[in-house]
Amino acid sequence: MAQKQRELTPQERAKVEGMKRSWEQKRLVSERLQRIGKRIGVYSGKGGVGKTTVAVNLAVILAQEGARVGLFDCDIDCPNVTRVMRISEGPSSEDGKVMVPPSRFGVRVMSMSMFQENEEEATIWRGPMIHNAINQFLTNTDWGDLDYMIVDLPPGTSDSPLTVMQTLNLDGFVVVTTPQELATLDAKRSINMVRKLNLDVLGVVENMSGDIFGRGAGEELAEEMDLPFLGRIEMRADYQHSETKPTVFTSDAVADEFHVIADAVRKRLAELDPDN
Ligand SMILES: Nc1ncnc2c1ncn2[C@@H]1O[C@H](COP(=O)(O)OP(=O)(O)OP(=O)(O)O)[C@@H](O)[C@H]1O
Ligand SMILES: [Mg+2]
Repeated sequence: MAQKQRELTPQERAKVEGMKRSWEQKRLVSERLQRIGKRIGVYSGKGGVGKTTVAVNLAVILAQEGARVGLFDCDIDCPNVTRVMRISEGPSSEDGKVMVPPSRFGVRVMSMSMFQENEEEATIWRGPMIHNAINQFLTNTDWGDLDYMIVDLPPGTSDSPLTVMQTLNLDGFVVVTTPQELATLDAKRSINMVRKLNLDVLGVVENMSGDIFGRGAGEELAEEMDLPFLGRIEMRADYQHSETKPTVFTSDAVADEFHVIADAVRKRLAELDPDN
């Protein structure tokens, strides 16, 4: 005789509902991610070495070269992509649920800052909150079809960059360093950490090369870590003068440097994954 099924307690029902929601979110996230080609993190061991500068200018150059590009600012503690891109509006939404990122210079941009009350506010988030927030962003954002998503990551080897890397399941990292010894030491540490997570490092970019900090340490680091050297960006006053546009638009020399980096990134991605 079939046994009559016991009614679920309210706690059990809540648990089942919670599991259903989490599965539904996982499904939605993986659906969204399938439409996003390569997800590339821009990362460094040390703060202030030029991650945001590289993320923004690389995204814009790839878009100029004809790719469909998204830029996702995941520097949760200190998001400033929107400031550099001069975006004041947030995403638009027709149904109040799905968000469409604003576009600037041919790049679709989302940032954690779009949900902060004011620019000076510092957000201190822990791993599980970051994981949830990023999943929420992914679930609710309609990026459309993208060839590349460039992700601006928080610096260092703490909880927050790690959580972002794992949640987004990034295809590879561009590691930014400056020519100073301390920066390359930190970069080495961050490369090792990415490798521990079984994620790929695409290569090393040396930023702020020139008479002040010297040049060449980025190449040495790449060689030592058995990685491609993706390119060099000279230290220039142009960055301080780019009040209205990313610097690749205002300086041909900078645009040339970023074309070189974009080429190297494409080449490396093709080597790592010849089928795509
Ligand atoms: N090649 C360069 N020449 C001159 N100035 C530069 C260069 N690259 C970056 N800068 C400037 O250095 C400052 C720091 O750069 P950026 O904000 O990109 O670093 P970051 O690594 O993203 O910093 P954070 O760790 O705080 O997020 C900015 O004012 C930027 O304009
Ligand atoms: Mg930054």
